[in-house]
Amino acid sequence: MSKLAYASEKIKAPSLVSLQTLFEGRMDQVNEKILKSLECSVPLIQDIAGYLIKQGGKRLRPLLTLASAELCGYKGHRHVGLASAVEFIHTATLLHDDVVDESALRRGAATANTIWNNTASVLVGDFLFSRAFQLMVEDGSLDVLKVLSQASATIAEGEVMQLASARNLNLREENYLAVIGAKTACLFEAATHVGALVADASSEKCEALRKFGFNLGMAFQLTDDALDYCATGESLGKHVGDDFAEGKVTLPILITYHAATEIEKAFIKKCFVDLTQEPQDLTRMIKLIHDKGALQAVSAKAQSYLNNARECLKIFEETSLKSTLLETLDFVLVRNH
Ligand code: IPE
Ligand code: IPE
Ligand code: MG
Ligand code: MG
Repeated sequence: MSKLAYASEKIKAPSLVSLQTLFEGRMDQVNEKILKSLECSVPLIQDIAGYLIKQGGKRLRPLLTLASAELCGYKGHRHVGLASAVEFIHTATLLHDDVVDESALRRGAATANTIWNNTASVLVGDFLFSRAFQLMVEDGSLDVLKVLSQASATIAEGEVMQLASARNLNLREENYLAVIGAKTACLFEAATHVGALVADASSEKCEALRKFGFNLGMAFQLTDDALDYCATGESLGKHVGDDFAEGKVTLPILITYHAATEIEKAFIKKCFVDLTQEPQDLTRMIKLIHDKGALQAVSAKAQSYLNNARECLKIFEETSLKSTLLETLDFVLVRNH
């Protein structure tokens, strides 16, 4: 169901609140662990990393680690450390990503690269990656280490693949999907997978939760790429149009380009290939995206990944936690932040 449909039928739109409420206590422990792991002897590291981490964010990935473990009946504490490691990896990628994307706004505040500089952001991102590995080693499971270290390598591959495909309007949809699978979905996949691993779940459940995370992550990035052309910066906490400004060829652009007339194609090439953009070009691009129905097409694609994710949960019994995870899937489609 779309955002508008929820509003017109006066049904409460799905949100993350139930998931956040269900794991409030555990997330306090995760946040405590995160802050403790930030401690180091270099004040600049604490300043920069603390600045971004204290702004919060949705904490979706660590929530998914906690939820996956508990869905598999886990009663221990190891998932707290692993959820913290997952959020550290995420935060590290954000610090690096804002440098690469030259973004100035994140979580409703100026980015670290704007307040400090690119060098400091990259180095502190490296510190956070290293801390994540220390947290994994502290956990002691080689299986977990294997999953999260593979995910870290894949994210870096994804960001580099994206760099190589920037400003390429001939990018094939399958290559775009491979990029978002690597840069985004694989961390969601790892987050849910390690939750199941820590619970010593059956290989069937581990596999189901791994795939659940991956499919959710794909939908999450598809929505993110649509939001860059339809959200408000206020709700998103990021500048709308950042992807446009850097000529990032995402699915809304590919769909619009393929449906465009020759004149419209020339305009899109000017913006994305030549990167010569006038102040009114973003508005014109947004209108074109709407006219070609590209956002609905992206939403339909996201929906199909969410359906896959929903299927993955079929083997788990009906519990309030499972309902909350199903609501999380619906949230991903209608999110505005
Ligand atoms: C932002 O992720 C990066 C993407 C993969 C699009 P989130 O939207 O989860 O960021 P925070 O942690 O809530 O700020
Ligand atoms: C997500 O891609 C990048 C990461 C995996 C860090 P984006 O570049 O679209 O993320 P935002 O929009 O900056 O959050
Ligand atoms: Mg970015
Ligand atoms: Mg984005």
